[in-house]
This record gives sequence, structure tokens and C-alpha cells, in this order.
Amino acid sequence: MSLILSSINILLCLLIFHLSFFADGEGIGLNYGLLGNNLPSPSQVISLVKSRNVGRIRLFEPNHDVLNALQNSGIELILGTLNADIPNIANDINFAKNWVQTNVAPYAPTVKYRCLSLGNEVNQGELSSSVLQAIKNLDEAVKSIGYSIPVTTTIGIYLLGSSFPPSSGDFSEASKSAMQQIAGFLSSNGYPLMVTAYPYFAYAGDPGNIKLSYALLNSTEVVVRDGDLGYANMFDAMVDAVYAALDKVGGGSVEVVICESGWPSQGNGDFTTTGLAQTYNQHLVSHALSSGTPKKPGNKVETYVFAIFNENQKSPGVEQNFGLFYPDMTEVYHIDF
Ligand SMILES: *[C@@H]1O[C@H](CO)[C@@H](O)[C@H](O)[C@H]1NC(C)=O
Repeated sequence: MSLILSSINILLCLLIFHLSFFADGEGIGLNYGLLGNNLPSPSQVISLVKSRNVGRIRLFEPNHDVLNALQNSGIELILGTLNADIPNIANDINFAKNWVQTNVAPYAPTVKYRCLSLGNEVNQGELSSSVLQAIKNLDEAVKSIGYSIPVTTTIGIYLLGSSFPPSSGDFSEASKSAMQQIAGFLSSNGYPLMVTAYPYFAYAGDPGNIKLSYALLNSTEVVVRDGDLGYANMFDAMVDAVYAALDKVGGGSVEVVICESGWPSQGNGDFTTTGLAQTYNQHLVSHALSSGTPKKPGNKVETYVFAIFNENQKSPGVEQNFGLFYPDMTEVYHIDF
């Protein structure tokens, strides 16, 4: 009897440990953009990220100071390649192997790579000519050094030719056959697809037809009905539109990771206040940690907020104002992870 009770106790402890472990920002990451001439050192930034219980970051391209700072931090990393390197990696296996020797091999013993991603928001030309072969070469290069790291690419939501209602989600005609092949490769390897998705840009482009609370993720009621499913926010609608598009090219089992989403706090009048940015990002974080989408309710969406800092070398306007922090590491507004 006491043996059974103590096993139950152990089980309960494990369960509670697991729950509190997951509650600490496990499924949430931050984009670490480096287009500023006044940003703190990578080791200060990694300490800041850890102090806020964020377990993942995304880097757009390899940066050795950041990779060094990540060593033994326990933070998981999405590491991108430059778009300009996609053809080189696709056309030359030795280029791919060198890339891995330089940017993965020295760090893989001490840095957790969530995945490697070919490019950012790859364009139609890259998609049709070289993305799949680049993914295959980088995958082969990673395997050749004895590591097992998912290799994928990052598309923008605008690759969908149709996205409304979500169940009608479909890749554009021009991208469809490339996406079919890429989804086939990702699906057979169990690798995820990275997608950037910004309800902000949809709302700012069509405020007359989109309810602000639907874009901000704070509507308490269903706004869009799609068959049996009800959507209270545009984020879920975007994710499910990508799942529907993947279904249509035979990639229904591929996991969608939203590697970028966010809301600027300045640069576009009343659409960009710290209040709106805080509302969107706080709801985004809480939602990602608590539930999936209407199409896949049990499947929490791994999500990366753009971005850690306001970056003064990006284009003026909203682009410089997506940060949760100023370069001096004070908060633009508070977010609980
Ligand atoms: C959503 O957030 C905005 C901005 O913080 C606020 O003005 C609005 O009242 C909120 N809407 C709901 C339904 O809570």
C-alpha cells in the first residue's frame, strides 16, 4: 500500500514538474535580429533572454559571437542561412559541408540546434530553382558530421494564393509544385516548415474589413466560421490556412512553426501603439503556450516573437519598432513568458 502511494506521489511529482517545466516559455522563442549599431553584447542578450524564461531564439544568419554566447545556455536555436547562399548550397555539396563545418560542427556539442533553415521568406525564384536541393545538401552535410538536426526553409504566409476561409488555404499556382516536393521531403524526414505570419500587416492593409480584436488575438467571441470550426483570431486562421495548403500537396503531417510574428509599437499612427503591441504579443505568447488551433486543438504552435530589440539599421518606420526591448535592455512594454 505505501509502495503504491509513494509511486503515485512520484508520478504526481513528475506530472507537476512536467507542467511547470512546460509553463516556462518552452514553446516560445524570440527573434534575435542584429541590424542595430547600438545593441548590447551577445552574452548580455543571452542572459536577458534566460532571465525572462525564454527557451528558444532564432538567428537569421550565422554569427559567431552569438553562437559562442549560446554555448551551454540550454537555449534552442533556429539558425538561418543567407538567401544569397541558397544557390551555393544547392549547387555545391562542398559549400554545404563547409557551411556546416563552420557554423554547426564547432558548436553542436554545446548548443541545441532546433533546426537549420534555408533563407528567410524565400522568393518564387529561389523556391522553384534551388530550395529543395539546398535543403537536401545541408541535410546530407549535417548527417556527415554525425548530428541529427532538422533542415528546412522559411516561407512567408504570402506564398498562399488562397487563405480565406482557412480551409481553402492553398499555395499559389506558381509555388505549388515546389512546395509539394519540399513538403514531401520534410514529411518523410519529420522536419517542420518555418512560416512568418503577421496579422498586423493584414490588419494595417485592410482595417475597414478586419476587426481589430480579431487581429490582436483578444476577441472573446468567434469572428469567422469555417464549416464546423470557429475562429476568434487571425493568427489561428493563418496557421490553419497553411495546414490546409500543406494537406493539398500531401504534406498534412508536416508541423508548422511560426518563426516570426509580432506587432510594431510605433511608426504607423494609431495602428502602432505600445498598448496594441503589448496586447498582441502577450496574447500571442499565452495562446502559444496554452492551446492549438481550431483545426489541430491539441497541437500547440511553436512561435517566435519578432523581435528582441528595436533595430536602428532597419528601414525607418514600423520596421525599426518591433522590439520588446530598447537597445539599453529596458522594456518597450512588459510581456510575461
Ligand atoms: C483588446 O485590446 C485592445 C488594446 O489593448 C483594447 O482596446 C480592447 O478593448 C481589447 N478588446 C477586448 C475584446 O478585450
